[in-house]
Amino acid sequence: MAENFNKKTIRDVDLKDKLVFLRADYNVPIENGHITSDLRIKQSLPTINYLIENGARVVICSHLGRPKGPEKALSLRPVAERLGQLLDQKVTFCESTIGDEANRLKKELKSGEILLLENVRFYPEEKSNDNKFAKSLAEGIDIFVQDGFGVVHRAHASTEAVPNLIEHKVAGFLLETEVTKILDVMQDPKRPLVALIGGAKISDKIELIDKFIEIADAVLIGGAMANTFLKAQGREIGDSLFEPDMIAEVKKIMDKAQDRVESDKFVFYLPQDGVASQKMDTYTTTRIVDWSAHSVASIDSYPKNPARITNMVRDNESIYDIGPFSGSFMAGVIQMAETVVWNGAMGVTEVNALHSPIGPFAHGTDLVVQAMTGEYGKKPTVIVGGGDTTGYVENRGIIELFDHVSTGGGACLDLMVGKKLPGIEALDKA
Ligand code: 3PG
Repeated sequence: MAENFNKKTIRDVDLKDKLVFLRADYNVPIENGHITSDLRIKQSLPTINYLIENGARVVICSHLGRPKGPEKALSLRPVAERLGQLLDQKVTFCESTIGDEANRLKKELKSGEILLLENVRFYPEEKSNDNKFAKSLAEGIDIFVQDGFGVVHRAHASTEAVPNLIEHKVAGFLLETEVTKILDVMQDPKRPLVALIGGAKISDKIELIDKFIEIADAVLIGGAMANTFLKAQGREIGDSLFEPDMIAEVKKIMDKAQDRVESDKFVFYLPQDGVASQKMDTYTTTRIVDWSAHSVASIDSYPKNPARITNMVRDNESIYDIGPFSGSFMAGVIQMAETVVWNGAMGVTEVNALHSPIGPFAHGTDLVVQAMTGEYGKKPTVIVGGGDTTGYVENRGIIELFDHVSTGGGACLDLMVGKKLPGIEALDKA
């Protein structure tokens, strides 16, 4: 048993003929009825295989999206099909989550068989952690298994109230692996530890940055969230996305980082250059803007001679990626690291290029990925967290190059900053 995981797991219970309620996180992207990423389904297979090999009767419950009530586009039916293909076994789908039909299908389940219930969030009682609803979910259940790592930060009926009603509540293998890998890095990393943090919004990750300023040896900031830092430093960022409400918070974070820089061997790095464009698309010309440069035409000459000005972002431009200098600097720091925690892209990776696999605003992210995956010689241990970052490495087909790619978004962030997660707290102590 991993030291950082102090909960009972499916290894600790007798599963033979038991009716098991498996809470999974099958919140997968679905477009026109087709699943576009089945990572979360695949990651649940080791637990399901173990349950069926050990004779359990498996009832799976999950949410999908954030519906207000039943919504056809958010039905879990396509997940039942995909799960059946991956397991090469029939997965019965129940069109309801509680009630007579669900109870009948539960009773009919034989050892080694699987039933997937409809989206538990079709019922508002799920989100309100309603006990009566939880009793209906728990009807006939012998063992509760939590393996939906991505949802353990939610105190909902299927993650908190249900396990509280059941005698045996244990973790599946995905939950155990996620918690162990993430906490190992947060509590006892091989140093130097580098945190590479990007993505769109600083408000989502301010606590994470704060935490890493305390525990990491270097914190590197990229993505649109860097714009709020640049703005707080008084830099011109043109029309770039930033969060005005976060300026005061960001200033505090920068002061905290500066205190450590002065008293310790600590690196806190904000981009010094960026890729700017008037539009976030494939066709519009891009420019490298280096706001650390002083040798170019003075800002006073703008707009008379705008083409020469390379040290400021124009009013009609936005920064969509880190620049080549920042990317190279970050890659160098990553090459000195033993451990990297990566959360968030350095730029807008979703825009495609016409004649290149790397989009016009994805070069910064590509550079740091190369540094993390051994392209420049050294390959540090890398933990990837956050929904969008996981989606990015999955789309590029490079998941295998990382030591751990988390299936959790908010859950991963909360675990990293040291919060108690209700879905884990509800399980039996080891
Ligand atoms: C996720 O995708 O992060 C989880 O499935 C949780 O989803 P939620 O943020 O809608 O609770």
